[in-house]
Amino acid sequence: MERVSEVLISRETINEFVCRLGEQISKDYNGEEIVVIGVLKGACVFLSDLIRKITCPVILDFMQVSSYFNGTVSTGNVHIRKDVDLDLEGKNILIVEDIIDSGITMQSLMRELSARNPKSIKVCAAFDKPSRRKVEFQADYIGMEIPDAFVIGYGLDYAGKYRNLPDVCVLELDGGNET
Ligand code: IMP
Ligand code: MG
Repeated sequence: MERVSEVLISRETINEFVCRLGEQISKDYNGEEIVVIGVLKGACVFLSDLIRKITCPVILDFMQVSSYFNGTVSTGNVHIRKDVDLDLEGKNILIVEDIIDSGITMQSLMRELSARNPKSIKVCAAFDKPSRRKVEFQADYIGMEIPDAFVIGYGLDYAGKYRNLPDVCVLELDGGNET
């Protein structure tokens, strides 16, 4: 069984970084249109808060992906379970993700979307666990770096549950936190 432990990041702290990111993104894109691509399902809560802090014109789309990883090397492929509806050529793409862990999903997705000739492509993640990287990847915008723990809430799930919790909590799993 799993147990929801202490609050690691409160809703107030989350709100602060969402405002900071929205301001920074609005400043950087300077009124240009942004195609915001939410990575389903985890990013949906963060994305809905973030886009309301962005003052540039925003077009929304979604993708759902799973990455292939054979244990030692990244295959560099991402399996697209749901693709965007839009043609991305010449667009400013901002990928919005819940959390970056090994970095494999985002590295692969960046490679896939870069091949569609966008004008620019950047990544914004709510949370980052840099100590867990298996491939080199750095997001352009990060809400908060967090330690190596399995977290849930604010869109993040364990077996599909807990996405609706307003704060981010550590999840303790019997037999240790194996992610
Ligand atoms: P990665 O960077 O390719 O390893 O994958 C990141 C994905 O793993 C995220 O989009 C999440 O779906 C999932 N993930 C990683 N760490 C956590 C966590 O602590 N809680 C919930 N999901 C996580
Ligand atoms: Mg995810």
